[in-house]
Amino acid sequence: MNKNIKVAHNLFVLFAFGLFLTSCVGGQTGRNNSGQYKNGMVVSAHPEASKVGLDILKKGGNAIDAAVAVQFALAVVYPDAGNIGGGGFLAYRSAKGEISTLDFREKAPGNASRDMYLDAAGNAITEKSIYGHLAAGVPGSVDGMVKAHAKYGKLSWAEVVQPALNLAQNGFSITESQAQEFAAMQKSIKKYNPGKSYFIKDKWTKGELWVQKDLAKTLQLIRDNGRDGFYAGEVADLIVAEMKKGGGLISKEDLKNYQAQWRDPLVGNYKDFKIITMPPPSSGGIALLQLLNSVEAYPLKRYGFNSDSTIQLLVEAERRVYADRATHLGDPDFYKVPQKQLIDPKYSVERMANFNWNKATLSSDIKAGEIIAESEETTHFSIVDRQGNAVAVTTTLNGGYGSMVFVNGAGFLLNNEMDDFSVKPGTPNMFGLLGGEANAIQPGKRMLSSMTPTILEKNGDLFMVVGTPGGSTIITSVFQTILNVIEFDMGMQSAVNAKRFHHQWLPEEVVVEKGGVDSLARLKLENKGYKFRERKAIGRVDAILKTKWGYFEGGADPRGDDTKLGW
Ligand code: GLY
Repeated sequence: MNKNIKVAHNLFVLFAFGLFLTSCVGGQTGRNNSGQYKNGMVVSAHPEASKVGLDILKKGGNAIDAAVAVQFALAVVYPDAGNIGGGGFLAYRSAKGEISTLDFREKAPGNASRDMYLDAAGNAITEKSIYGHLAAGVPGSVDGMVKAHAKYGKLSWAEVVQPALNLAQNGFSITESQAQEFAAMQKSIKKYNPGKSYFIKDKWTKGELWVQKDLAKTLQLIRDNGRDGFYAGEVADLIVAEMKKGGGLISKEDLKNYQAQWRDPLVGNYKDFKIITMPPPSSGGIALLQLLNSVEAYPLKRYGFNSDSTIQLLVEAERRVYADRATHLGDPDFYKVPQKQLIDPKYSVERMANFNWNKATLSSDIKAGEIIAESEETTHFSIVDRQGNAVAVTTTLNGGYGSMVFVNGAGFLLNNEMDDFSVKPGTPNMFGLLGGEANAIQPGKRMLSSMTPTILEKNGDLFMVVGTPGGSTIITSVFQTILNVIEFDMGMQSAVNAKRFHHQWLPEEVVVEKGGVDSLARLKLENKGYKFRERKAIGRVDAILKTKWGYFEGGADPRGDDTKLGW
């Protein structure tokens, strides 16, 4: 062998040996050298919840089993948004390509009424829709989990509830950010829970064990009795007693009647990708498809990530889409949402026709399209299993710690989801969002949401599972994360880490994460009339990408304690 051939030969042997080693590692643990996993993955807002999900997958549970277990685990370890007293949405795609979406959004109680948050002069008393007993809608999470498990689960119900029960019974170590946050929350918790001792303590220390006996009892009832463990019997009695004490509206009848609902998923396309996402009563799916339709024709790759042109284009799309959201979207069981027209790509192209590269459009010049005929503590988790079944769940109490009201004796917080209704036309909700007739309060109606659990396919195969908390910013964060991967060639973790910005029609401003726009791009846009406001973190995206080699690559948001685990 001459010298060159010998070097080439040695390199080849080294390469082949490397491949062999990689496949050995892959064979034993499913992990490759890039930290991607073959057998499944869980990305959630809390390390303990991700661990619960992973254990379920390893035990032979599928993605739905893991999702149910993670939902209950988050209710224990992440009380700011994890919940049994709230609601959410689930998007599912089986390995064979079956798709479905589950709506377990809260509902207005039977005694709710359109003007329930107005004073005698007709002014909105927004504190009442945000804090305290009257802010709570009828919770949907437990029935949602029961329905998801009944349709797709493989392990027994008891097996998927038990890990959360263990965490409540035996305790778990709180993280550093939780220690700080729990201490900071005490004033509000005390205000809305007079006479209770639960969760009330001024000093919290990182690593301390937090045991929740009342919650453990509630979870035990749910484990043993399914939906009746929550919507009937002892827990229902405790919820109604709590309501009576604080002037809330949820009745036994409301609890008995609550039903989560399977809905036809919303499906659209962006270039080679199929987008499977949540229909109303979330506005998220429609708005996401509208945003993607609005920008598809533009060369975003050439503009570059967060360049002035990219920001301008996305902001103008967002301005128009959020104007539509305020007018046209509400619970489809009560209001005829013009879904077909809104997600028609031609509609978004027309809406962008008056966009001018030379100056910012004024939001006052934008109305909803004509149709023929800081506390944002939601949470999201993404899961894939060994077979390739995928689940995206976004779930919430609405604001951080919801209404702040603990159900005495049952150990869980109630949501403040009623604030997601349009309390009065023209009065913004806690996220600054406006609404009208479509989202007015009616008994039994679901309040409009922005939650956007989404699954992407490429060439008929799973591509991405994605979602985030963030109130009104949910939709734009999901939108930008998808573009980061598809247009700006980022891996999943980089796409999640990347700085975000947000525009929602009104107020007339672009909010941007600190350092998210370089000073030259910002100056160019300010000269065109865009107003910027910097703020801290926007969203906490937890997502999974399937690589072309068939491995799962996680993106756990570094803005929180979010954790990705695979095997
Ligand atoms: N509670 C926030 C949302 O549903 O959009």
